[in-house]
Amino acid sequence: MNTITLTQPDDWHVHLRDGLALERTVPDLAKQFRRAICMPNLVPPVKTVDEAIAYRNRIMQHVPEGNLFDPRMVLYFTDQTPPDEIAKIKASNCVNAIKLYPAGATTNSDNGVSDIRKVYATIEEMEKHQIPLLLHGEVTHKHVDIFDREKRFLDEVLSPLIQQFPDLKIVLEHITTSDAANFVLEQSKKVAATITPQHLLFNRNDMLVGGVKPHLYCLPILKRQTHQTTLLEVATSGNPKFFLGTDSAPHAQNAKENACGCAGCYSAPTAIELYAQAFDQVGRIERLEGFASHFGADFYGLPRNTDTITLKKEDQVIPERLDYLEDQQIIPLYAGQTIQWRKV
Ligand code: DOR
Ligand code: ZN
Repeated sequence: MNTITLTQPDDWHVHLRDGLALERTVPDLAKQFRRAICMPNLVPPVKTVDEAIAYRNRIMQHVPEGNLFDPRMVLYFTDQTPPDEIAKIKASNCVNAIKLYPAGATTNSDNGVSDIRKVYATIEEMEKHQIPLLLHGEVTHKHVDIFDREKRFLDEVLSPLIQQFPDLKIVLEHITTSDAANFVLEQSKKVAATITPQHLLFNRNDMLVGGVKPHLYCLPILKRQTHQTTLLEVATSGNPKFFLGTDSAPHAQNAKENACGCAGCYSAPTAIELYAQAFDQVGRIERLEGFASHFGADFYGLPRNTDTITLKKEDQVIPERLDYLEDQQIIPLYAGQTIQWRKV
């Protein structure tokens, strides 16, 4: 197949940031995706429905004329998120979930939840109202090796959580291991997962052999090749528990190429083409539509999009760098390299 037409896709996990960054991130994403779940890890974080509505309005100011991009908002879970915020989410027409970062897990997660048991009263309301809980699934204890943090989260946090709240809708975000994929497969249909393009296209050798590649550093960190293979298998399996979430996370070039480099890959401008590349590499391009355009909407209980986009198998050179903020630049995923798919 050299051309495929799919229902317009949605991105169920993206970082658009705020302020001037939106000039870059919103048009880049909106040229491909109809909806996006906009992550709330701003400074300060988006903690209430009112703050989410205000953030959505700031995003909307950067949507190109005539584009129908529909940002879907998420609240940032803190130890103080009150149970009665859930009814407000239910009543809003733009907030769709709450994101839980274990405190200290990643960029701007310091206000995250210190111990999940402290917020069980709020989670109980989420289960009652069927509001999805989105999880950054890594433990943060200093002594736990960075490559084991996702697996330990499954055992120590997620298993007890599901036992306590069997009807809670959960998205395990940006999964990176066979352990996480198999865990999700074993659960009820209330438990799903998103997968990023970088975790399908790369493994830790790509990041670390022959010199460190800071632009492939993201969290959860890339794992060994066997995990990459499993992620490709489940993403392309047609199982609706696995759907698209880019985790596109911009950081300026100097913040990435730094003695203490930030975590995050910027994939927004060509994300759907990168997924096409990954699916095609394993001979499964026909499975892209379910993963990119159907399963996420179904999980969130939103209608599937009705417009379509077309992708063509044709070389495309990814730009070396993109302008970002006033006088900075950003290095996108696959910068300077050629991929084989292009949106027409
Ligand atoms: O690599 C990442 N970057 N992982 C995250 O969880 C957060 C994100 C960011 O906001 O930069
Ligand atoms: Zn993220």
